[in-house]
Amino acid sequence: MTEPKGVTGMAAGLAELGAEAARAHDPYGDDAVIACDRLVRIFTAEKIEVQALQGLDLLVTAGELTAMVGASGSGKSTLMNILAGLDTPTAGSVRVAGHDLAAMGTRQRLAYRRTTVGFIWQQTSRNLLPYLTAEQNVTLPMRLGGSGRRARHKRAGELLDVLGVAYCAGRKPEQMSGGEQQRTAIAVALANAPKVLLADEPTGELDSATAADVFGALQKANTELGVTVLIVTHDPAVSSMVRRVIAIRDGRTSTETLRHSTTDADGQLSDHAVEYAVLDRAGRLQLPREMTGPLGMRDRVRLEAEPDHIGIWPDAPGTRPGDNGETGDNGATGDDG
Ligand SMILES: Nc1ncnc2c1ncn2[C@@H]1O[C@H](COP(=O)(O)OP(=O)(O)OP(=O)(O)O)[C@@H](O)[C@H]1O
Ligand SMILES: [Mg+2]
Repeated sequence: MTEPKGVTGMAAGLAELGAEAARAHDPYGDDAVIACDRLVRIFTAEKIEVQALQGLDLLVTAGELTAMVGASGSGKSTLMNILAGLDTPTAGSVRVAGHDLAAMGTRQRLAYRRTTVGFIWQQTSRNLLPYLTAEQNVTLPMRLGGSGRRARHKRAGELLDVLGVAYCAGRKPEQMSGGEQQRTAIAVALANAPKVLLADEPTGELDSATAADVFGALQKANTELGVTVLIVTHDPAVSSMVRRVIAIRDGRTSTETLRHSTTDADGQLSDHAVEYAVLDRAGRLQLPREMTGPLGMRDRVRLEAEPDHIGIWPDAPGTRPGDNGETGDNGATGDDG
């Protein structure tokens, strides 16, 4: 029996639909340790809605040391609190080290905060318990995690040593400087060997020399212990020392700066920073205002596909590619008055 043509056609159509569905469910960020997909967080205070995160996409690979920058109110702490398991998104999905944060129950959330992520706050006083010594502060999360006394003591000693504050082991926070407290706070955050270390302006209260020590400690945690580190910072010294800097604008990732080291013909090592616009999953781009403003780009732009790039042009007569006539009369400057 031959199959009626219609059925074959239908099967082909279904196969095509299936393939399309598979594409739609592509494993976004499956190999990433942090994967935020169209993350939304809306706060409602006194009947006013604030959209702190507006469909933020972010992928961070295991072992990366990344800085996050952005104007005040752009949503950095909102994102960090969600990644830390302290807050939940209004919509979108967020996965950290295989945990689906939107779907976690209270108990899972607690375990997640205890073992999967470590967190360092800007306020030194918020990171350590004042009545415990540095060593006791570091062993506390391990006690909650159930490890034995000897193992706790050994690991606390090792961590304080790696972070350069072994001499503070017996001191209480009030007997330590701000930088020593923050380095101890990193040891506390690392106590249960988390996959991810989150630090929200960890050097915000410190002078620049001390800030450099604390940043050095975070770098060490990254290189020597292999933990993935995400740092929110306003400190240009910090953002100039990491390979990847993500800029957040209006609740979305807008640009990324990647730093590459190259060696020239004479063997001289030099650093290059390249700024990229982030292309989200739907193909959306945020064009920096510094670039669109001077060209009078507003509302819409013209795109020209070239073999190896895409040209973006203002939507004004006379400024189009290949438009030879009357540019003097109708150029972007014509709008100014
Ligand atoms: N609990 C909350 N209730 C209401 N609005 C909030 C809440 N938390 C944050 N917001 C608002 O969400 C937006 C983003 O705030 P967020 O704290 O994430 O900014 P930020 O980038 O960390 O800024 P900063 O650099 O000043 O720390 C702001 O408009 C803020 O007022
Ligand atoms: Mg903040």
